[in-house]
Amino acid sequence: MNYRHAFHAGNFADCMKHALLVWLVRALQRKPAPVLLLDTHAGAGGYALSTGAAERTGEWREGIGRLLDQPAAPALADYLALVRAAGAPTVYPGSPLLLRALLRPDDRLAACELHPEEHATLRRSLGPDPRVAIHQRDGYGAIGALLPPAGGIRRGLVLIDPPFERPDEFAQIAAAIALARRRFATGLVAAWYPVKHRAPSRAFLDGLADAGIPDLVAAELLLRRPVDPSRLNGCGLLVASPPWGFEAAAAEILGAIADTLGIGQATSAVRRLTPERTAA
Ligand SMILES: C[S@@+](CC[C@H](N)C(=O)[O-])C[C@H]1O[C@@H](n2cnc3c(N)ncnc32)[C@H](O)[C@@H]1O
Repeated sequence: MNYRHAFHAGNFADCMKHALLVWLVRALQRKPAPVLLLDTHAGAGGYALSTGAAERTGEWREGIGRLLDQPAAPALADYLALVRAAGAPTVYPGSPLLLRALLRPDDRLAACELHPEEHATLRRSLGPDPRVAIHQRDGYGAIGALLPPAGGIRRGLVLIDPPFERPDEFAQIAAAIALARRRFATGLVAAWYPVKHRAPSRAFLDGLADAGIPDLVAAELLLRRPVDPSRLNGCGLLVASPPWGFEAAAAEILGAIADTLGIGQATSAVRRLTPERTAA
């Protein structure tokens, strides 16, 4: 486990993932019933941007740095307000901090992080909160162990955001999505994936569609044509059972990010992979 998210915090991939995540949680919260948010690969929580790892790569300057420098597009206003409230541009909030900021009194967050140091930092970042459970455990295993949610919660979201260090990560995610759908059919799943070159991400999406998982939508942002497999040329968020309105909202969010970050080359696309319900 060599991956450290601090090197990449606030980059374009974080911006697209977190802006979509904020929209998804707000959409779930249109109804008053409590939700469970399960973050299977949570990272360290908050990341200093102008010192240490993030400062060294400077990736955030091409991501959240640019978004914060421009007048906020309406589609990004909510996300950017949360990021600012969490301390940007001094500190960038990772997914568990953003999710915690969105919790209502009866909502719950379970955040899993396997790496001991990242887990210890996450614990410090989140602090004690009766709505939040922090686990040092394998995030894929947590899907089987923590779902369906305790306490009669019937709605929620599972965020799957692994580091892609393992060659079988796409296969792991596909299996995890299928398991999460079985154990928490009334919840939704959002899984982040990289686009370096086209073949692996296309095979991943085709495989999920062929497996017959209903109601899948892929939202992708490409900074440039994905022809150089050594670079992160783009990324996607695969969403299973998105709330009503997701496709239009995601197109707006990604379009606004592409316009601000891409210097003319970036493109975005939101694609439905499988229909809402399979035919009986
Ligand atoms: C991409 S980062 C997560 C970023 C975070 N979700 C965010 O958006 O701010 C992936 C994290 O997963 C952790 N990790 C790696 N393997 C894991 C596993 N099997 N279970 C849980 N966490 C894992 C890594 O240590 C790393 O902190």
